[in-house]
Amino acid sequence: MANVAVIGSQWGDEGKGKIVDWLSSRADVVVRFQGGHNAGHTLVIDGKVYKLSLLPSGIVRRSKLSLIGNGVVVDPWALFEEMERLRGQGVEITPEKLVISESATLILPIHQILDAAMETARGSDPIGTTKRGIGPAYEDKVARRGIRVCDLRDPDVLMEKLDNMMLHHNALLKGLGMEQVSAADMHGKLMEVAAEILSYTGVVWRVLDEARKAGKKILFEGAQGMMLDVDHGTYPFVTSSNMHAAHAATGSGMGPDAVGYILGITKAYTTRVGSGPFPSELDNEIGQFLGEKGHEFGTVTGRKRRCGWFDAALVRQTVTISGIHGIALTKIDVLDGLEEIKVCVGYELDGERIDYIPAGQGEQARLVPVYETMSGWPGTTYGARSWAELPAEAVKYVKRIEELIGAPVTLLSTSPERDDTILMHDPFVGK
Ligand code: IMP
Repeated sequence: MANVAVIGSQWGDEGKGKIVDWLSSRADVVVRFQGGHNAGHTLVIDGKVYKLSLLPSGIVRRSKLSLIGNGVVVDPWALFEEMERLRGQGVEITPEKLVISESATLILPIHQILDAAMETARGSDPIGTTKRGIGPAYEDKVARRGIRVCDLRDPDVLMEKLDNMMLHHNALLKGLGMEQVSAADMHGKLMEVAAEILSYTGVVWRVLDEARKAGKKILFEGAQGMMLDVDHGTYPFVTSSNMHAAHAATGSGMGPDAVGYILGITKAYTTRVGSGPFPSELDNEIGQFLGEKGHEFGTVTGRKRRCGWFDAALVRQTVTISGIHGIALTKIDVLDGLEEIKVCVGYELDGERIDYIPAGQGEQARLVPVYETMSGWPGTTYGARSWAELPAEAVKYVKRIEELIGAPVTLLSTSPERDDTILMHDPFVGK
């Protein structure tokens, strides 16, 4: 049996919740390895809706171990709020079920202040962040002034580190004409939550090593999508972590060969929240149709998602870069009822045909999509549980996507219901 890493292959919101839930029911351990509470995964189990942001999806199931890896940024207050909400829904959360890495970076209130301030400073060209403090917390991490979970064990070291951190941030706040934030104040706030956070803290890389040796199945749960990856996405309109499957290993503390099967969650059309280039965007009634039918509103911020045609060149690129073995194609039923469907197969850039997204910000903004047109299908794909139930044109659409992106469809999801899924290959069996 292989472990499985689930990552988004577009700009996030590909419908990971349902797939991750299906996979986590079969895994022993679920580990989050990047991002923070900017993510939003919705699970529907026995008709009950659970909204998760920071907690791994395994948390809603009794016998699963949930881990928050070192690659995640943890806001203690947001975490407690989420735990409280889930407990209200009858979910049991104990230190036996949830372990947070001692080397995960903390998001502090100052990071949210900075996130909002930097967005305002960008004026008419903001990134459109979730304002959760994700970017500033990761910035502190790589600048080596971050506060980590283990620092809560040592109040003196914590105070020193906060003094150092606030020296930097207060200079910036002063430059922006904003109020200073006191390190002592931050220390007091952290000490209020320290004991509770520490009761869930552990050495995640060792927990994972033991799980691996005991032959347990591990599911690496990615958030966001490859086009938001800080290295490979549409920079600077990205988040501040790596969604790349290799980060499942670095963000949790395992060797790269432990990652196993890489499943790319892929929506049958394209969406994006926030600013940035989006070549196949539809600023018309078809885009509106997709948004309404697909309920395309952000789980975290409630913002309307931008919608467009499936971009096969984009997905081919993320499949190639991140080594995706197969995709889970979601929300094909949203395309039901369209007379014709377009698929972006490449771009024109300054009059030249190219088949990939170049790295330059200006180049990305100038990409003109090149489309292939396919016919829509009569009837519906909604709720189909076998290939035989799909209209012939829908099968053609799926097959064409496979050809264009260079990866097989491992799983096809035809409604939000768990059982409305067509499984072609069990990812836990491996490649
Ligand atoms: P940040 O992660 O809050 O810094 O936001 C940076 C960019 O990533 C913005 O465009 C957000 O809309 C986007 N983003 C962050 N998290 C998600 C997510 O879970 N799904 C989709 N987009 C996201």
